[in-house]
Amino acid sequence: MSINTSAKISQPFQANTEPMLEETSNKATTKSSDNKSDITIGENIIENPKFSTRNVDVFYDDKQAIFNASLDIGRNEVIALIGPSGCGKSTFLRTLNRMNDTIPSCRISGEITLDGENIYDKKMDPVLLRARVGMVFQKANPFPKSIYDNVAYGPRLHGLARTNSELDEIVITSLEKAGLFNEVKDRLTAPGTGLSGGQQQRLCIARTISVSPEVILMDEPASALDPIATAIIEELIDELRVNFTIAIVTHSMQQAARVSQRTAYFHMGKIIEVGNTSQIFTNPRHQLTENYITGKFG
Ligand SMILES: Nc1ncnc2c1ncn2[C@@H]1O[C@H](COP(=O)(O)OP(=O)(O)OP(=O)(O)O)[C@@H](O)[C@H]1O
Ligand SMILES: [Mg+2]
Repeated sequence: MSINTSAKISQPFQANTEPMLEETSNKATTKSSDNKSDITIGENIIENPKFSTRNVDVFYDDKQAIFNASLDIGRNEVIALIGPSGCGKSTFLRTLNRMNDTIPSCRISGEITLDGENIYDKKMDPVLLRARVGMVFQKANPFPKSIYDNVAYGPRLHGLARTNSELDEIVITSLEKAGLFNEVKDRLTAPGTGLSGGQQQRLCIARTISVSPEVILMDEPASALDPIATAIIEELIDELRVNFTIAIVTHSMQQAARVSQRTAYFHMGKIIEVGNTSQIFTNPRHQLTENYITGKFG
C-alpha cells in the first residue's frame, strides 16, 4: 500500500460552516439530502484532536471505498462510527493503525496524524504504531497460546516488564479491567482458544490494553456477545475513556448511544454527518442520517 503524500492539503482545512438547519414540522424538506457532495455536515473538525484525518480516500484496486473523509477524534472521547453494511466503517478504522497495510490491493491518500505526527511517514514504525493504537476485532482472535501468554505477549514484545512479578501484575490488571480475571484466575495456563466466544473477546481486549495503548479501535466488539458480556464491555469502554481515546464501530444504535460522546454517520464511503451523539440520535441534520437511525435504511 502506498500513501500519496502529494495529496496532502496545503491549506488549513475549513470546518464546514453551514448553519444549523432550522427545525420545522416537515423535517424531510428542510434537511440536506445530498449524497453527491463530499462535505461532511456537523462537527467533524475539533480543537486539539488526538487523531486527525484529512481528505482521506481509500481504494481496493480501482474500487473506491472511502471518499474524502475528514474527521477528528478527540482525546478521552469515545466516538461511534455507524452506518449501513459496506459503507466503509472497518476500512476507515483500519486506516488509523495502518492495518490496511496488510491488504495488498489497498491504497490510501490524504493525511492522517496522531498527536500531529503523520502515521504514514516513513519514520513511523507500524508495529510501534499498533501498540499505540490497539485494535479489537468483531471476531475474537486469541493467539494459540495460554490465557496468560496471550496477555503477556505485547508487554514482552515491547519490554514493558522488568521482572516476572511485574509481568504478572500487568496480566492480572489487564484481565481484571477486561472483566475476565475472576473467570480465568484458576486456569491461566489453559489455552485462550478454549474459552467461550465472549470470554475470548474479553481476552482480546485484555491483550489490547496490556500495552497501555493511547487509542483503542473497536470493530463491532460486542456483536457476538450476550447482554451480560456486552454490559461488561460497555462499562469497560466508559472506564477506559478516562485514559484512552476510543473509536468504536457498532451496528447497535443503543450501544452507540450508551457508550459514545460523538457519533459519525457513514454512507457509501462518505462521512455524511458528525456530531454530539445525543444530537445525532435525536435531531440529525442530514436526511440520510435520519433515514438510518429511524430504520428506513440498512
Ligand atoms: N479486503 C478488501 N478487498 C476489497 N474490497 C474490500 C475489502 N474490504 C472491504 N472492501 C470493500 O470496501 C467497502 C467497505 O467495506 P467495509 O468492510 O469497510 O464496510 P463496513 O462498513 O465495515 O461494513 P460492515 O458493517 O458489513 O462490516 C465494501 O464495498 C467492501 O466490499
Ligand atoms: Mg465492518
